[in-house]
Amino acid sequence: MRWGDAWNGVPLAPGARIWIVGASGQVGQACMRCWRDRYEVRGFVRTEWDITRPEDVSRWILDTSPLHRPDCIVNCAAMTRVDACETHPEDAERANAHGPGLLAYACERTGILLVHLSTDYVFSGTQETPLQEDTPPHPCNVYGRTKLEGERRIVQQITSGRFLIVRTSWVFSLYRANFLTWVLERARAQQQIPVVTDQTGCPTAADDLADAIGRLLERGARGWIHFRNGPPCSRYDQARTILATFGLPVDLCVPVTRTALPWKAQRPRYSVLHVGRYRAITGMTPRPWQDALAEMATLAGREFENYS
Ligand SMILES: NC(=O)c1ccc[n+]([C@@H]2O[C@H](COP(=O)([O-])OP(=O)(O)OC[C@H]3O[C@@H](n4cnc5c(N)ncnc54)[C@H](OP(=O)(O)O)[C@@H]3O)[C@@H](O)[C@H]2O)c1
Repeated sequence: MRWGDAWNGVPLAPGARIWIVGASGQVGQACMRCWRDRYEVRGFVRTEWDITRPEDVSRWILDTSPLHRPDCIVNCAAMTRVDACETHPEDAERANAHGPGLLAYACERTGILLVHLSTDYVFSGTQETPLQEDTPPHPCNVYGRTKLEGERRIVQQITSGRFLIVRTSWVFSLYRANFLTWVLERARAQQQIPVVTDQTGCPTAADDLADAIGRLLERGARGWIHFRNGPPCSRYDQARTILATFGLPVDLCVPVTRTALPWKAQRPRYSVLHVGRYRAITGMTPRPWQDALAEMATLAGREFENYS
């Protein structure tokens, strides 16, 4: 097994048992929604299963009878607030590196497939062409460093190769705090929205990501795989598109550069993930993030109609 490679494993059959940790997060919720018709899915929130606590990992995996264990565990738990990771590096290390290491240890001992989410922030951002799975990582902040360490611990523990690491970027949904909900909240409060023009990446709809992971599981994919929607854009372009799509004033967006914002953590200037491997395995091309956004705007409008 080489860093950044992909290989084949046993496809996950319909009806297989999947447990999701970090199920209250935006990706966790999307996986629960997306997979419940095909798999037997169970979600765990942090109060039930804290991935940093060895006793929780023992209780749910090692001490559970083989008959009741899942076929696959999907780790959607992480400390994702990039600036908070910078100011609380020990917490970030616990959630993003130590926790995945514990899960990996228990999964390897019990033969459970571990699916883990990782990030474009493992890359430095100095490259100018899309990042492949085996591009050497070089994170520029604590979040990226701890997420990379999480990947390393999985590789160290799971010598059988029974893992799938899906790296993604700029995840958005109508649930939990994320860039989309932040832009909408500020616009509805008629506040200006400072957004950077010098950060380029690919927004990814949480539902599209869940669907993509499901397709990879159906095909028995293992190793590292990148998934994101296309095409690349700046945060400024993304924010303007969000406002236009939700019928809010686009002029609230104020273009700024990364150095002008009081961020604690650096962000990569360029972090476009290459999705050729995903395309080759699934035969699917990720759709434009604007299409997913338009669907969310329709859904949000419908929910509001029901409410009134
Ligand atoms: N958001 C992005 O833009 C983005 C981009 C690239 C990759 N990713 C990766 O995608 C994955 C999912 O991210 P997301 O956007 O869904 O994040 P999110 O909305 O912030 O959700 C994170 C989840 O992890 C839970 N959690 C945190 N620490 C935990 C612990 N010690 N034990 C158990 N649960 C814990 C949180 O629980 P509470 O509800 O209790 O806080 C929450 O449910 C993460 O691995 C992240 O690194 C995200």
